[in-house]
Amino acid sequence: MALLGVIGCLGCSDSGTSGAGGAGGAGGGAPSGETLYLEPHADGNTFACASCHAIEEPAPDGIRRPGHPIGDAVNRPSFKNGQLPFLLDAVNSCRVEWMAATAFSDDDPRWLALLEYLSEAAGDSPAPALSYQIVSPPSELGGGDEMAGQALFNASCVVCHGVNATGTERAPVLVGSLLDADTIGRRVRTSGAGNSAVYEGLTGGRMPFWAEDRLSDEELVDLVAFVLANEGDTGGTGGGGGTGGLRQCDATHSKIGQVAELQTFAHQVSGTAVIIDDCTVRVDDFVYDGTGIDVRFYGGLGGDYTGGFSMSEEDLRRIGGYDGSEPVYAQLPEDRTFDDLDGISVWCVPVSASFGDGLFTNP
Ligand code: HEC
Ligand code: HEC
Repeated sequence: MALLGVIGCLGCSDSGTSGAGGAGGAGGGAPSGETLYLEPHADGNTFACASCHAIEEPAPDGIRRPGHPIGDAVNRPSFKNGQLPFLLDAVNSCRVEWMAATAFSDDDPRWLALLEYLSEAAGDSPAPALSYQIVSPPSELGGGDEMAGQALFNASCVVCHGVNATGTERAPVLVGSLLDADTIGRRVRTSGAGNSAVYEGLTGGRMPFWAEDRLSDEELVDLVAFVLANEGDTGGTGGGGGTGGLRQCDATHSKIGQVAELQTFAHQVSGTAVIIDDCTVRVDDFVYDGTGIDVRFYGGLGGDYTGGFSMSEEDLRRIGGYDGSEPVYAQLPEDRTFDDLDGISVWCVPVSASFGDGLFTNP
């Protein structure tokens, strides 16, 4: 079973240790608006705006987040189902109720930086107000498709719960838990502060609700099937998806979410590599004819892979090759971090030739 979308938690960051600037901060003063979007805030919890909102959809990492995209938010006439006329109040509601931070004042440099960033994203065209429904889960949650649920989980919930529900610093492991279907349904549909100032009918928790238009009831039923099936597991790589044999890593590195497009040099190689946690790269749309001898994913610096290192345990050689229909994974050796590479190559080891490579950049 191929995993679809998958991880890519933008906003998994090391700013917990690097102080108010967050990773990528320009040193001194307020972090940039982009950093404030991508990273957790120094005075809040582990969530970033980017954990819950893409700028636009489809998102560059293919992940569907619980909140709507906010790229055009500055041009909307009102927010939170018409309850809030000002963007600052909407952002503050998310800061307070989801991120456990305090409200920005209207002259806070962080607010001004974030506003500038969102204004650049929005351009000039007017945008309609959103309207969405917080709904109860259906009473019948059985009969879902576990495989479809797994694929969906790894393309949505993954941003906080990690690939195959193995957990991140934003949300707990769901493997081996003992939840019933109703609890799972309620978490997904009505999670959030019960005393929320802007949402009605929430039933507690820091996890955000998924409104009706963000996730359908059919999809919820599939997710329930996947989470329940996972409960029998006591660890390992989850319900046996396409990630077999991958080791589990934290998701703290500032390069998580960076993307490299593979340029084609030989053997029809192409694809899009995404850093998805502290040790794993997922290559989407991976095409390679599979005929080279001792060809591996290699990490390197500045386009130099001769001095690089292998990220594949085995030769990528394969009869029939790779046609882009399933993601392929590469992992760092135990003694390496993503500080040791800025690019990835499909590297033919015996002849020191790159069949295709690309440098990682922020999407
Ligand atoms: C834990 C998840 C979460 C985090 C973190 C979060 N939000 Fe939200 N946000 C939501 C949800 C859920 C809604 C309501 C549904 C929606 O509008 O998509 C929302 C609504 C909004 C809205 C109102 C949209 C509208 O038009 O009604 C804006 C604007 C917004 N968020 C901006 C931000 C910004 C900026 C940040 C970071 C400072 C942020 N949010 C952090 C979950 C989150
Ligand atoms: C923005 C981060 C975030 C996203 C996205 C998210 N969750 Fe959660 N989830 C949490 C957190 C944090 C908790 C821990 C309880 C709390 O504080 O709400 C949690 C708890 C849960 C629980 C309860 C676990 C327990 O042991 O009680 C379930 C079930 C769950 N999530 C399922 C999902 C599913 C399914 C999705 C995708 C549709 C999802 N979550 C998406 C953050 C998230």
